[in-house]
Amino acid sequence: MKTLLILSALLFAPWMAHAEESDCGELKECLTAPVDATRTDSLQRGAKLFVNYCLGCHTAKYVRYERVADDLGIDHKLMMSNLVWTTDKIGDHMLSGGRPEEQAKWFGNAPPDLTLETRLRSADWVYSYLLNFYSDSKRPWGVNNRVFKDVAMPNALETLNIELGDEGYKKAVGDLVNYMAYMAEPIKTERKHIGWWVWAFLVVLFIPVYLLNKEYWKDIH
Ligand code: HEC
Repeated sequence: MKTLLILSALLFAPWMAHAEESDCGELKECLTAPVDATRTDSLQRGAKLFVNYCLGCHTAKYVRYERVADDLGIDHKLMMSNLVWTTDKIGDHMLSGGRPEEQAKWFGNAPPDLTLETRLRSADWVYSYLLNFYSDSKRPWGVNNRVFKDVAMPNALETLNIELGDEGYKKAVGDLVNYMAYMAEPIKTERKHIGWWVWAFLVVLFIPVYLLNKEYWKDIH
């Protein structure tokens, strides 16, 4: 029994370990992002939002479209027609149309690569950041951010917010951050599946072990 407990603790430890506390600026605490690597529908919606609203300025240069399509169960043709812009091919990395030096000139700061952003800042931070833009006429884009003061990024999702209303918008941002968390750690989707198989195996193994144990001790008691 003890071994089983230790094994299960080992199995679950990586999922339970939460990203360390991050500083969410004016918010007392970061909001909790609805990250769930098993929700493929959410990840697919998030991928679409990411490509449509973020890749214009940012890159995700460590990720290939093909890997995303395969991991998230998106048909390659569908991926090409709906999610891949310009002349990119399915095997290409997710790069943006813009050039960093020029963007640094336009925005003051260059938009960083977002592949590992949720690991750098935590998913909760990114979620809180995206939900906390507010109008501020003193800023060049007319917006400021409660989590990232005086940020040089415009509110890229403003039209989506208007389109979906606050509730729908929050869900959409949840999907987007869920996708970004997958992107930062694609192996997690696999690890979870493997984890369940190991669990099933342990449960099945437990039965003969238990019976054997009983058999061995039966004359001694
Ligand atoms: C119009 C260009 C533009 C678009 C579109 C855009 N961003 Fe940005 N983003 C920027 C710039 C510029 C910065 C750098 C801001 C700074 O350092 O002040 C930035 C910074 C960020 C940061 C903070 C990075 C850090 O850790 O310092 C995150 C997170 C981010 N963007 C996420 C997104 C997401 C998600 C989307 C899509 C919904 C998106 N951005 C769309 C221009 C853009």
